[in-house]
This record gives sequence, structure tokens and C-alpha cells, in this order.
Amino acid sequence: MAMRSCDTQYNAVSYQKYRFSPPENLQKVIFSYLEEKKLAPMRLAVDVGCGSGQSTCILAARFEEVVGTDISEAQIQAAKETASFPNVSYRVCPAEELPFEDGSVDLVTAFTAAHWFDIPRFMKEVDRVLRPHGSVALSTYSPNFSMHYKDCSERLTEILTETQGVLLKYANEKVNRVIGDYKEVFDLLPFQDKRRVTQIIDKIPMSVAEVIGFLHSMSMYQTFLRSDPEAAKSLLQKTEERFLETMGVGSNETQLEIGIKNVCVLGCKGP
Ligand SMILES: C[S@@+](CC[C@H](N)C(=O)[O-])C[C@H]1O[C@@H](n2cnc3c(N)ncnc32)[C@H](O)[C@@H]1O
Repeated sequence: MAMRSCDTQYNAVSYQKYRFSPPENLQKVIFSYLEEKKLAPMRLAVDVGCGSGQSTCILAARFEEVVGTDISEAQIQAAKETASFPNVSYRVCPAEELPFEDGSVDLVTAFTAAHWFDIPRFMKEVDRVLRPHGSVALSTYSPNFSMHYKDCSERLTEILTETQGVLLKYANEKVNRVIGDYKEVFDLLPFQDKRRVTQIIDKIPMSVAEVIGFLHSMSMYQTFLRSDPEAAKSLLQKTEERFLETMGVGSNETQLEIGIKNVCVLGCKGP
């Protein structure tokens, strides 16, 4: 399979292995919004920029049909190879050209993906494919993670912040939309009925190895790896050593918690 530039943005194997599903409190915010808006029928949901499908699957129990779309063939291939639900399917396509009829979709979502899109063109597509009173939910987590383990949470968080400080030098400028808490995404959503919920806090259990894998799966780490492979590998190796030393443990399978702060832009199309 030929590699496209979007395929090099992420390593689909590491992505599939280490990215987690949208956490509980974020899901609560989205599903409460759908209840508040009395979204019915819940026939078709489209998860745009679905990656390897972790976000797409959380919609399976609530919608008759769910389609995950992504511009990366490698990500869609990884999604198709992962156990899923019979009503979930995947398609390769850009967010700016969605292969759905006008007014045919009940919910459009994008988890940690909308900042990568050509947002004005994507918003036009959202408006076109959603049926009257259909909804949209666009979320991302902020790059400021915290770590929690016994009495060394503060020191572990400092180490993680230092490592992320190095990685941020390799961030695409679109990551500024994330740092800006999706204000730009919110402003460009062309619906009257919209809101932006910030400070959605979740704690996710992970092993030290999974935290390192998560950092490895980030697009900025992949950029660093391409630009200076030795320095990139050494950064993650040293980060892991510092975590273990701080925790006073020898195994990278030791469990801790990582604190995630999400923001979500929600909107409901008019009649
Ligand atoms: C950070 S990943 C998020 C994946 C998944 N939603 C999740 O929560 O794990 C961002 C995804 O957006 C995809 N992407 C980037 N630009 C895109 C575009 N213009 N159209 C569709 N997908 C795009 C990337 O290929 C990648 O899989």
C-alpha cells in the first residue's frame, strides 16, 4: 500500500495498540446532550477522523448504523482488523468530502481529529449531511496530562510535562487549535444552537509501558522520530526510566492513572 502524507502523521500499529476510547465523562457529556436535544431516530452516526476505530465503537449501541471515516488508508485498515460490532463499518475519505447524501446523518462526531481538518470545508459538509435537528460533537483532549501514583503524582506529572515540552517543538501548527481549547472550532460551527464544554476531566488506568506507548502514538513524536530517530527513542527511554525511578518500581507494567482534560464542541442543526 502506498504511504500518503496523512499515513506518516501517525503510526497506525502504535495508534491501534495505545490509544484509548473516549473516556467516561466525555461520553456522558455527549450522550446527555443527545438526550437533551431528543435526538431521534438514531439511525446513522458518522465518526470522522476515526483512526483505528476506538472512538467509533462507542456509538454502536446507540445507533442503527455507524460509519467511521478517515483519510488514512493505514488507519482504516487497522480499524477493519480490530474486533468490532456488526453495525459498524469504515471508509477511507477526507473529512471535507463525506460520502453521504444531503440530510442523511443523525450525528457527526470527531474525537481528537477536527483540528486536523480544513475546518470551514468540514463544517459545510457537516451542515450538508446532517438532517434537520441532527447533532454534532467535536472533542479533543488538551496536551496537559497529569499522572497519579501514590505520593509521587506531582513529580511524575513534572517529568511528563518536560517530555511533552520537547515533543511540542515538533507539533504541527494545527495543534494550536487544541491548545486554544477548540475556540476556533466552536466559532466556525455554523449553527445557532451550540455550546463548548471545557474541563471534562477523566482518569484513565494505564501501565507505565502504556503511557510510553501513548506518547509514541502522538503525531508530534512521529515527526520527532522521522527528524532525529536516536534522540526521539532516547527521550522515551529516559522518560520511562525516570518514571520507574520516581515510583521506586522495576516493572514498566506497574499501573498508575493518567488524568485527561477534554473539551467538546456540541451543536444542533436548525429545522
Ligand atoms: C488523533 S487521530 C484520532 C483518531 C480517533 N478519532 C481517536 O479518537 O482515537 C486523528 C485522525 O484524523 C485523521 N485525519 C487527519 N486529517 C484528516 C482529514 N482531513 N480527513 C479525515 N481524517 C483526517 C488522521 O488520519 C487520524 O487518524
